[in-house]
Order: sequence, then structure tokens, then C-alpha cells
Amino acid sequence: MQLLLPILVLLAFSGITLSRVKEVHNVLELTGQRASRLRFSTDVAKGKYTPPEEMDPQFWYNIADEEIAKRLQLPQLSTKKAKNVIMFLGDGMPISSVTAARILKGQRQNKTGEESLLSFESFPYSGLSRTYCSNAQVPDSACTATAYLCGVKTNIINLGVSAAVNFNNCTASQDPANRLTSIAEWSQNAGKSTGIVTTTTLTHASPSGAYAKSANRMWECDTDVTSYGVDASTCIDMATQLVTQTPGKNFEVMFGGGMGKFLPKTIKDSHGKAGERSDGVNLLSRWQGLHDKGVMVTNRKQLLNLDVSSASSIIGVFQSGLMDLHMDADATYQPTLSELTEVAIKKLSQNDNGYFVFIEGGLIDIANHYTQAGYALDELLEFEKAIQLARDITDIEDTLIVVTADHGHAVSIAGYPGRGTPILGVNHHDADINGVKYSVLNYAAGPNQYLDESGQRIPLEDILGPDNAITPSYIPTEIGVHSGEDVGIWASGPQSHLFTGVMQQHTIPHLMAYASCVGSGKKVCGN
Ligand SMILES: *[C@@H]1O[C@H](CO)[C@@H](O)[C@H](O)[C@H]1NC(C)=O
Ligand SMILES: *[C@@H]1O[C@H](CO)[C@@H](O)[C@H](O)[C@H]1NC(C)=O
Ligand SMILES: [Zn+2]
Repeated sequence: MQLLLPILVLLAFSGITLSRVKEVHNVLELTGQRASRLRFSTDVAKGKYTPPEEMDPQFWYNIADEEIAKRLQLPQLSTKKAKNVIMFLGDGMPISSVTAARILKGQRQNKTGEESLLSFESFPYSGLSRTYCSNAQVPDSACTATAYLCGVKTNIINLGVSAAVNFNNCTASQDPANRLTSIAEWSQNAGKSTGIVTTTTLTHASPSGAYAKSANRMWECDTDVTSYGVDASTCIDMATQLVTQTPGKNFEVMFGGGMGKFLPKTIKDSHGKAGERSDGVNLLSRWQGLHDKGVMVTNRKQLLNLDVSSASSIIGVFQSGLMDLHMDADATYQPTLSELTEVAIKKLSQNDNGYFVFIEGGLIDIANHYTQAGYALDELLEFEKAIQLARDITDIEDTLIVVTADHGHAVSIAGYPGRGTPILGVNHHDADINGVKYSVLNYAAGPNQYLDESGQRIPLEDILGPDNAITPSYIPTEIGVHSGEDVGIWASGPQSHLFTGVMQQHTIPHLMAYASCVGSGKKVCGN
């Protein structure tokens, strides 16, 4: 690192010639050939984008002092128990999206952005989670949910069953030896309240990891099971599992979309669409029958008017399918993730034994699949607001908050854009070998390469303006793809110091169980 300063000074006072860049990189012991591929924009190198206060080394020494002081105040290996555990899951949220969202957050406040910080980034402990699944280098949301909720790595597409089960094998998924339990069930057995909150459907892969046992994540309702050639009376669909089986039937909070999976085709749901079930069962009536004082809500107004103290449990189904992306949603009709989080915590905090709740920002993944970075980052900022709210309304002395992602997405922040370059825009400081500028964010695979008829890249200035623009990608595919690098973990509250280092994803629920004294493994209370 010491070499960098003289190099930057050198660049700042010279028009950069290729030979100079080569010379500089030879100092860094790069080969001549590699060096010739590295170019910096003269503007950026000349300091045109440098905030003046940052030219003073003291600026950086002060930040370092603060960071040291913060770390010296950390509770060292506290023996405190976590009465409550809140797990926040950003679906398909790679570190690159976290960084980009942080920049967007700052830029929405008219700052350059890079210096900004997301709520969970100020949590005292963080680490990395290794996301591969038993049969997959790059995972899906089902095998990862099984890892971070049931504590076992399994095969891709499996939910709540071990890797002895193969895709769509009903028989294997029925074998008790292959069926797993989740931290939601462990928490219920310890007398705690439990709940799930998602912006996808209640039967989507991530929240289902808390209650479902299924050899195919697509078995959301009986019609889905049948469509995969499986007998729906033997292999029970996930919506039915949620309403009628342990631990789902004991959830005191269930918020999300996916109302259609609970209703027969002959009935219109509260959002005007027909149900999806072929067995004629109205699972929402069934749920009501099982919970005298249970309350069902289907829109924001009903949610916010709810009296949480008189409801024994609450089911909220706010759309027929996935909930709407925050930027597109009717804000008077669909609650935000923060509003869902607030009501969920209020309800679950009524139990003196504490609670476990799983809260998912599920549309980060969906928007990344669309390769619409604007939507993905907006969803990520909604997610970080909900985390801030959760930290604000809970006691840091008794509530552990763990934030992580299930897997990444193949999005990169590439090139050498200057400080403060709009994160969703074009990098004006670099161009490809034909002189065409490129965007700051790019996906490895996706629907839009933005090439002209001769296969040349086209300028993006007029394309990347709107928030819903499709971000360029390199490999033509229908939708964007997951990525296999590690994801982050951020933790705050009792036992948060456990969440450091590089860990296997399936270790996460065991650490949360240790901290909250649930399950059959080691517990902080037993020590
Ligand atoms: C940022 O600047 C724009 C244009 O000057 C202004 O309309 C907006 O209110 C500002 N936003 C903030 C958060 O200061
Ligand atoms: C399903 O799993 C069982 C083991 O439980 C196995 O005997 C059977 O061959 C599997 N079926 C298929 C189609 O793989
Ligand atoms: Zn995905």
C-alpha cells in the first residue's frame, strides 16, 4: 500500500501516457502486457473528483481513530443470552449489491455516495458465509434456506430435507431419516414465539426453509405438486404444510404475498385474482378455524389498524403472488417491509420467553434476476431501513439481529469511474477498445447486451436514465443468474461476536440457537 501514494501523486502531475502507466505498474511487478491493459482516466487521476477534505491525511487518521475506539468498546465474549433472535435475509444480495446500495443511499442524499453506510454495516461484527450446496457450486434459495434455517447443507431445490433426497423424489422426502427441523421449531419447543415475514410469497423458498419439508421448492400448492407428476395426497404441498403442520401452524406471524396458493381456483382472492388450488381447500378458512383469535389482513390499512394484543396470531397475505417491487407498489395498499417488520416485532414481543423471527427482503433477488439494478438497489435500501427500525425498537441487550444473504448475483462494479459517479449510470471515465463508454454496474448474464447490428456495443447514456432501466450484461440469457462467491454476515446484540470469520452457511442457525438457548446443541446458558 505504501507504494500507492507516490504513484497517485505521479499520475496527478503528469498527462498519463501508456508508457508511464507501464512504468508505474512495473513498479508493482506486473508484467508489461498486463500493465498495458490498465488505464486510468486523466480526469480521475488529476483529482478532479476528490473531495477537498480528503486531501488531508488527518481526515483518514480521524476515521481510523474512531474505528479503533469502536472496536475497543466491543463486549468481549459476553455470556449474555439472546432472548430474541431476528434473522434478516437479503435474497440474492452479493457484496457488490451491498456496496452499490450504500453508494445509491448517499447519492439520494446528494452526496458522492461511496462514504455512505447502510444500517447493518455499522453492526459490530461481520463475517463471510460459504454458500455452496451439496450438489451445486452456485446454489439456489432452497438449499441455502435449508442451510441457514435447518443447519444442514442439502441439494439444490430441496427444502427441509437432507442431501439423501434427490429432486422431486417424494418417497425419499417422506423418510423420517431425511427430514430436518428448523430453528423456528427449536424456538417453539423452548416456548418462544415464532414468525416469518417476506416480500415474496409465504411459500417461496426462503421463508419455507423455516417450516417446509419438500423434495421440490416448486410444490407451493397441490396444483404445483401434481404438475411435477407427484401425488399431492402423499407429498403435501407447502401451503398446506404451513397451515396444518408443525412448526408452521404455530407461527404467530406470517406476512408476505402468495394468497393464491391458499385458495381454490373457484374463489377470487382479496386482490381480485383466482386461487390456484385444485383440491378445493380454502386454507385460509382452515387456518381461521384453527385459530379462534387469529386475524387475517390483506392490505396496508388493515395491517396498521390491527390490535396486536388481541390477536393470537396474524396471517397477512398482501398480494396474489409476489409482492410488488417497492418502486412500483401502490404505497397506500401494500405495506413496506419496515411496516411489516414493526407489526411482527410488536406482536412477537408479547411473549416473555422471547421470539425467533425470519424477515426477508426477497425482491432483491427478483430484481437482480431482471438485471434491473435500480430496482434491486431500491429493494436493498428498503431492507436496510427495516433492519434499522428493528434495531431501534428492540433492546440491544437482549435481541440478537443477524443479517445475511443466501447467495450472490453476478453483478459487478467495474472500471475506474471517478468518485461520485452515479452508481446506476454510465462511467464517463473509461471506454472499451472502440471508445464506447460503459456502465458502472454490469451483470455477467442477462437479457440485454445493448449491441448494434454489427455486434458493437452502443452508447448507454440515453438508456440508463430511468430507475427501471435494464442494466447491461455480457452473456445473453433470459434472466440474470446467481453467483457463487461468499456472502456477508452482519450481527448485533448478545453473542454477535460469534458471527465473525469465514463460516459455512449451515453453521448460522446453530450459532443463533447457541445464543438463544434453543435446540439440542451447545447453548450459552448451559455454560
Ligand atoms: C438533492 O438535490 C435535488 C436537486 O438539487 C433536490 O431536489 C433534492 O431535494 C435534494 N435531496 C436531498 C436529500 O437533499
Ligand atoms: C427415490 O428415493 C428412493 C430412496 O428413498 C430410491 O429408492 C428411489 O430410487 C428414488 N427414486 C428415483 C426416481 O430416483
Ligand atoms: Zn434467485
